[in-house]
Formats: sequence, C-alpha cells, structure tokens
Amino acid sequence: MIFGAIVAGGVGNRMNLSGLPKQFLPLGNSKKPIIIHTLEKFLLCDRIDYIYIGVHKDWLGYAEELLDKYEIDTKKVFVISGGIDRNLTIMNIIKVIETNHGENPDNIIVTHDAVRPFVTIKMIEENIDAAIECGACDTVVNAIDTIIESSDGKHISSVPERKLMYQGQTPQSFNISKLKNLYFDLNDEEKNVLTDACKIFIFRNHPVKLVKGDTFNIKITTVSDYKIAQAIVGGSKGD
Ligand code: CTP
Repeated sequence: MIFGAIVAGGVGNRMNLSGLPKQFLPLGNSKKPIIIHTLEKFLLCDRIDYIYIGVHKDWLGYAEELLDKYEIDTKKVFVISGGIDRNLTIMNIIKVIETNHGENPDNIIVTHDAVRPFVTIKMIEENIDAAIECGACDTVVNAIDTIIESSDGKHISSVPERKLMYQGQTPQSFNISKLKNLYFDLNDEEKNVLTDACKIFIFRNHPVKLVKGDTFNIKITTVSDYKIAQAIVGGSKGD
C-alpha cells in the first residue's frame, strides 16, 4: 500500500506571526489553511491509499475540526500526534500505519511538509515510482545560486561545483521497512545529527533517487515566504 504522511508537528517558531502554527495560516482568497491546500494535492493522487497527518499534540483537536470544516474524507485521512522532531513525527505515523494496516515489506510512505502547499501530483507520482524502484527518494531542484560551504561561519571552506549541487525539497519517499530498520539502528547522537530522513539512507550507503521538484514548491518558513505564497495563489486560478 501507499501512504501519504503530511508532517505538521512543528509550531513555526521562525514565522512567529500569530499564535497559530504556520501550517494553519490562511492562504489565498478562500482563506483555506495552508495544510488543507497541501492535503488536497495528496487527495488528488489516487495511488495513495491513506493519508496520515502528524500534528503537535496541542493542535490535534484543531486539526480534526479543520478536516470536519473542509469535509475531508475521514475514512481516508487521519490526524495523529507528531513527535518532538520531524523524524519522530514520521516514526509516529509509521507506528500508527502498522497498527491500523499491518506490516508489509512493500509498503511505501510519501512524506511531505505540511507547509509546502505547491507540491504537484506529478511530484507525488514520481516519488511513488522512485521509492518503489529504489527504496528511497528525495525531491530536488538544481541549485541556482552558487553554494558556499563555511565550517566556521566566517570564511569560505569550499565552493562546490554548482552543476553538482541541488536543493532538497519534499516529498521524500521511502520503503517503510527500510526506513524503520535504518532509523532504529541509529544511536541517539546519530539521530540528533541525521535530522533529514534521506540523510539516514546516505549515512548507511543506501542509494536515494532524485525526483525533479520545482522552485514554486517552497517551504513556508518565514513571513516573507508566506507573502510569496500569497502572491503565488493570488496569481493562480486554483484557489
Ligand atoms: N515538523 C514535524 N514535527 C516536528 C517538527 C517539524 O512534523 N516535531 C514539520 C513542520 O510542521 C513542517 C516541517 O516539519 O511541516 C518542516 O519543518 P519546519 O519548517 O522547520 O517547521 P517548524 O518546526 O514548525 O518551524 P520552526 O523551525 O520555525 O519552528
């Protein structure tokens, strides 16, 4: 089976715009919350059997009310409690998936940031294909700016060749059994460093396939990202 996992367990400290975590902020003329825009993209992909949303425990009731308000099919979409970091939110989702649907070595999870509402069905479909083929994939765009590496934050340590550089987005998709096995094999220190799920695969020398993302697939992190997102939906007919 194929599962969507929308990670929404953060509270958006860097946004700091209102009391609401950023995934619940209104977007576009309809004032539909960002997370509902994101969820609707996943619902358009009929290869996904079930969608799980991991939210901060203090916002469970709020998220459930939103599903109700936007008449989301609650036989297909479930809200569960997230974890203290992003990977633990994914692990909580996997635990509930396996409790509800059993374990199967072929199960795939398409993980996605709730705050990336401009994901496309094409990206989701290509993630599913790549995760089935390779066991893990990441959605990326070519780096446009030159990437500078600095180990002390004051001087350049290296300037990697730009054509080899990409910027990571989401979705990131995985064979659930492989992700679980790799994650639970890490010690606490490694878990703290490997905050990106794809990095866990790379750390254990497992291939991770690239899927083409889009510069529009922004992660709404700061107030200026939010303004850009409002401009994007303002200029599209889809809202
Ligand atoms: N996330 C999560 N569980 C956590 C922390 C983050 O599911 N414990 C999710 C966020 O809700 C978001 C995505 O991971 O959809 C990307 O994280 P980020 O943009 O860093 O979100 P926040 O943690 O909310 O933001 P901040 O770091 O500014 O507090």
